[in-house]
Amino acid sequence: MDTTAVERSAVESSAWPLRVEHARDGDVADIVALNNLFAPDGLTLHRSTAFVVSHLQDYQVVRGPDGALLGQVALDEYSPSLVELVSLAVAPDAQGHGLGQRLITAAESLARARGYPELFAISLAEPLFLRMGFHESTILRYPEKIARYRAISRSELSIGRKFCFAKSLTPTPTVG
Ligand SMILES: CC(C)(COP(=O)(O)OP(=O)(O)OC[C@H]1O[C@@H](n2cnc3c(N)ncnc32)[C@H](O)[C@@H]1OP(=O)(O)O)[C@@H](O)C(=O)NCCC(=O)NCCS
Repeated sequence: MDTTAVERSAVESSAWPLRVEHARDGDVADIVALNNLFAPDGLTLHRSTAFVVSHLQDYQVVRGPDGALLGQVALDEYSPSLVELVSLAVAPDAQGHGLGQRLITAAESLARARGYPELFAISLAEPLFLRMGFHESTILRYPEKIARYRAISRSELSIGRKFCFAKSLTPTPTVG
């Protein structure tokens, strides 16, 4: 069985502890490669090695039993009150087994632990984000995002209202 087949069967059987962990220095090249695999289709924004190195503390990953990178997610801060979930990606052979959901949960937990009141994301994976408790929003609520990415990706900005999702991270007050 080749490595990919081993990873696929392990994902299917959950035969090893599927843990989301903070990324390490040795993950940088794999993170860049997995992220940029989806950039030509506009599913992820192209990321450079320099970007990943300088934001490594914001990346979380899932590895297969042999240590190969199966999935990743990152937080991209705009201000102490505004953070975006970015670079969500799962290796093609490992998709459809819940890793995306786990990575979104991990990003949410990290954002909560860091005290952000809200997490937003721009994505075409609408059912996934709605299932994870996000609601549809509009990029117009995030002028910081528009300003930062105007020069990088017109296509991402042009997707507009439909594919912007947000989730409040503040606890809902209990009644009584
Ligand atoms: C989006 C992605 C991370 C999901 O990872 P995953 O491990 O397959 O996710 P899960 O198994 O937890 O959930 C799969 C669900 O995501 C949904 N989904 C994934 N990609 C989708 C897309 N492009 N459009 C619509 N729905 C999508 C599927 O509807 C599926 O739902 P189902 O189980 O009802 O069929 C993965 O498909 C991926 O890496 N895609 C390419 C990069 C990308 O689009 N990143 C998102 C940028 S924010």
